[in-house]
Amino acid sequence: MNLETLKNHSYTPYSKKPRVCVVQGSKGGLYPGVRIENVSFPLTISAIQAACCICLSEGEIPNILYLQDGDYAQSDYWKKEFDLTIKSVSELTEAKFQNYQIETPSNEITHLKSLLDNAVTTHSDFPVSALLYSESVCFDGVNIEVSDWSMGLCAERVALAKAITSGIRSFTELAVHTKYGDVSSPCGACRQVIIEHLPLNKIRLHHADHTLSEHFSVDLLPFSFTSKSLKK
Ligand code: THU
Repeated sequence: MNLETLKNHSYTPYSKKPRVCVVQGSKGGLYPGVRIENVSFPLTISAIQAACCICLSEGEIPNILYLQDGDYAQSDYWKKEFDLTIKSVSELTEAKFQNYQIETPSNEITHLKSLLDNAVTTHSDFPVSALLYSESVCFDGVNIEVSDWSMGLCAERVALAKAITSGIRSFTELAVHTKYGDVSSPCGACRQVIIEHLPLNKIRLHHADHTLSEHFSVDLLPFSFTSKSLKK
């Protein structure tokens, strides 16, 4: 997949300013990330945040950051956090990017449990895993914590960042698991993000006590913030 195609995967209905970057990890993997805006603007995932958190969720440390011309949100923070070398994406013409799609797991909870080991929970020691389904493919995610707590991403949003970067926009279901929570339940910020991409879908919560509950996204966030006037 080329960079322009990837850039077009950005979800930027509010600014109409797509952004893409690529992070090279410590083992050489190339992790693209796109900007994913939210109707509540502060919940927007920057392209660099998406790429760095995905890279970390795959067990690599961000090393090189490939950028296009122009301004990138949060670039100073991420450059400093991982002492990133900055290069131009023009160096990546023949590059092979990581494939984020996985096959739909045969056993959801077994996969969710095995994923917990990939979570980066330096501050909380509270691993969370998520599986996001589309009609044909699936994406997984774990929570990522960095020095600034507000720059990390929840497991649900790492899975979403992988999917949107891969060009998938339509989803069927989401499943979430936490090891230590009394209940597994998406945080308020994730609910606002979930409702934007899975407005009428089923959310399956696998709780720590081995019980499962199913909810519709709209029931998890009734009367959610929305406004058509924000879309350009
Ligand atoms: N966390 C998630 O991954 N998903 C949620 O919906 C709730 C919170 C993570 C974020 C952070 O790494 C840790 O749990 C504690 O807040």
